[in-house]
Formats: sequence, C-alpha cells, structure tokens
Amino acid sequence: MALAAALEGQLQLREVSGIPLQASTVDNWSQIQNFEAKPDDLLICTYPKSGTTWIQEIVDMIEQNGDVEKCQRAIIQHRHPFIEWARPPQPSARNAKDCMVSYYHFQRMNQILPDPGTWEEYFETFISGKVGWGSWFDHVKEWWEIKDRYQILFLFYEDIKRDPKYEIQKVMKFMGKNLDETVLDKIVQETSFEKMKENPMTNRSTVPKSILDQSISPFMRKGTVGDWKDHFTVAQNERFDEIYRQKMKGTSIKFLTEL
Ligand code: A3P
Repeated sequence: MALAAALEGQLQLREVSGIPLQASTVDNWSQIQNFEAKPDDLLICTYPKSGTTWIQEIVDMIEQNGDVEKCQRAIIQHRHPFIEWARPPQPSARNAKDCMVSYYHFQRMNQILPDPGTWEEYFETFISGKVGWGSWFDHVKEWWEIKDRYQILFLFYEDIKRDPKYEIQKVMKFMGKNLDETVLDKIVQETSFEKMKENPMTNRSTVPKSILDQSISPFMRKGTVGDWKDHFTVAQNERFDEIYRQKMKGTSIKFLTEL
C-alpha cells in the first residue's frame, strides 16, 4: 500500500510557478534554481521530445572530434547530465504537432509520468500546457524572443533532419571548433536516427522496463517529420491551428512543416 501510494505520488506532476514538473525535479528545485553557468558552459534547452538526445549526441561527437569510441564511454544521460553540464544556451525546437505525438507515445511508455489517457484526452492536456515541463507554446516563444539578446544558437529539429551536415556545422562553429569534412560526414552518419536507434549509449535500452517500457513504444520511435498527419483528425488540426495562431501571435517564428 505504502509503495503504491509513493508510486502514485511520483506519477503526479507538481507545479512550480505554474509549470507542472515531475516530483523528483520539484524536490531538487532549489539546487536547479541556484545553478550558475560558467562562461564556457553549454546548455541544451529543449522542450521534451524535440530531439534532446539527438542534439546531445551531435554536441558530444563534435566535442570528441568525431571519435566514436569516446562517445561510447557512457550512456547519453551521463555524458549530458540534465542542468549540471553546461557554455551558452542552445535551444532546439520541434514543430508542436510532431512534438505532441512524440510526447504522447513517450508518456505511454514512461512509467513514471502520468498515463496520457486516450489521444483525444492527451490532445486537450497538451494544448492546455498541463504536461510535464509545461506549455510548448510558452517554452518556444520565450526562447525565441530572447535568442538575439544572448549568446544563443536556436536550432530546429526539422532543419537538422533536412540538412544535417549544414546544421551540425552551425553547432560546431558555435562551439568554437573547426572539424574537417571527413569528420563532419562521420558525425552526420553516426548521429542518424538509424545509428542512434541501434546504439545502446543513446537508445535508453539500459533504463529498466519499470521506468521506460520500450515494448509499449520504443524511445527511438520514428524520428520523422510529419507523423502528426497520422494522428490528428481534420477537426483537431483546424482547432490546433487556431490555438497556435492565438498563442504564437506576435512571434516571427516559422516552422518548416506547418503554419
Ligand atoms: P519520435 O517520437 O517522433 O520518433 P527527446 O530526445 O527530446 O526525448 O526527443 C525524442 C524524439 O527525437 C523522438 O521522436 C526520437 O525518435 C527523435 N530522435 C532521436 N534521435 C534522433 C535522430 N538521430 N534523428 C531523428 N530523430 C531522432
């Protein structure tokens, strides 16, 4: 009973400044809030399911000059601990519709996040921002608005998908590195969806099933642009576009696949 209650407590999201967060994050909040980046720290700031793991692997491959063996030294969560490893921020965004789909399947398989319910129910939860780490709209808008004021490299999942070499070169320059063409080509190859899906250091296969149940949905699920078209009904799409217009009003951000 006590264990069930404790687990139930873990599954509930708790709000900090109006943003629903996992209980463990809330417990560490004072430490997170007092985090001070050093001038040469690099922070990856993504909304969940926007390709965090992908950009983490790209950054480490660049940092290690394309040395695949070095990038095998530890699982990705240890090579990029959340918040503690940080240079200037590097937000990465993904179009909201694919993000919602990816998050839905992630919550289905993630045993320590609330059950997402049906797709119809999740659609409402997501647009109201009542998912872990809050509203996609607020996250993307706020980072977009400050991107020119600080040393920030803003990346789009869809851009990396369309032209990985060009985008990886941008990250490389931002990190102050200069790698030659063959190394860059190797990084493109090693950070492809197919490679990262097979790589135990990136595919979360070492995480116990009691936390991530990959038999429900793999962590490296599809890695495509436009999967939302197989999930959204026409009515949901129309409603979403209207909400998007309202919430993103005044921002110049444009996603490649929509709106
Ligand atoms: P899908 O669920 O749409 O497949 P995060 O790392 O922020 O949790 O994001 C996970 C999403 O990024 C998943 O999307 C996952 O498949 C995708 N992803 C991870 N590595 C990728 C890669 N190398 N190329 C393309 N997509 C990738």
